[in-house]
Amino acid sequence: MNKINVYVLGSFLGIVVIFGLLGFKSSNDLAIYEPQPTWKNLKVLPQDISKDSLMGLMDNYSISLGVKCSYCHAPQKDNPSKLDFVSDALITKEITRGMIAMTDEINENYFKPHFPDPKPKQVHTVNCVMCHHGTANPRKYLSNMDKVYQMYKPEEDK
Ligand code: HEC
Ligand code: HEC
Repeated sequence: MNKINVYVLGSFLGIVVIFGLLGFKSSNDLAIYEPQPTWKNLKVLPQDISKDSLMGLMDNYSISLGVKCSYCHAPQKDNPSKLDFVSDALITKEITRGMIAMTDEINENYFKPHFPDPKPKQVHTVNCVMCHHGTANPRKYLSNMDKVYQMYKPEEDK
């Protein structure tokens, strides 16, 4: 390799590095300035909830109840292979609004005030899975309660 080639290669690498840095910087800026999504039909969750937080909650509900998104979200009218997340056509979505309000209220009134300072900003002490155990209708496992009690051995508690 002669001196000129080394120089050309060197400046080429320099340009690659500079572009790399610029690319990195602008993608960072995008992440900061990305506008918040505007949700169309939130009645209990905060209007300004981020996409990540909303999706985290939706995954949590699905796992807690052992269901898919389509358990609460109806299919789109014009394209039934996709879901219409804004629609309130399914009763399970409305029941869930009550469940979210109930869970928040229990945490807000009966857990949060009794935690020592400094209080965590949000105490998720009661949640869906605690009652649902991975089924939509808790009666499914409650009907097995007698079997659970037969397994309980009081002497092991001592
Ligand atoms: C157990 C019921 C339930 C399940 C399962 C569920 N959701 Fe939801 N979803 C809701 C409820 C209830 C709301 C409305 C909350 C409110 O009114 O504040 C909602 C709202 C939404 C919204 C906001 C729509 C808008 O603009 O108003 C999106 C998007 C969404 N869900 C996506 C999903 C996805 C994706 C899944 C599957 C990973 C999912 N949901 C699973 C109950 C559910
Ligand atoms: C304190 C216990 C408790 C908590 C917490 C709770 N649920 Fe429930 N949920 C129940 C019970 C019990 C039922 C069944 C009511 C009945 O049919 O008798 C139920 C029913 C439901 C149903 C209707 C099921 C059906 O078959 O019709 C949905 C949907 C639901 N819950 C979603 C949720 C979600 C989502 C959360 C968390 C935000 C949640 N629940 C938190 C106890 C709870």
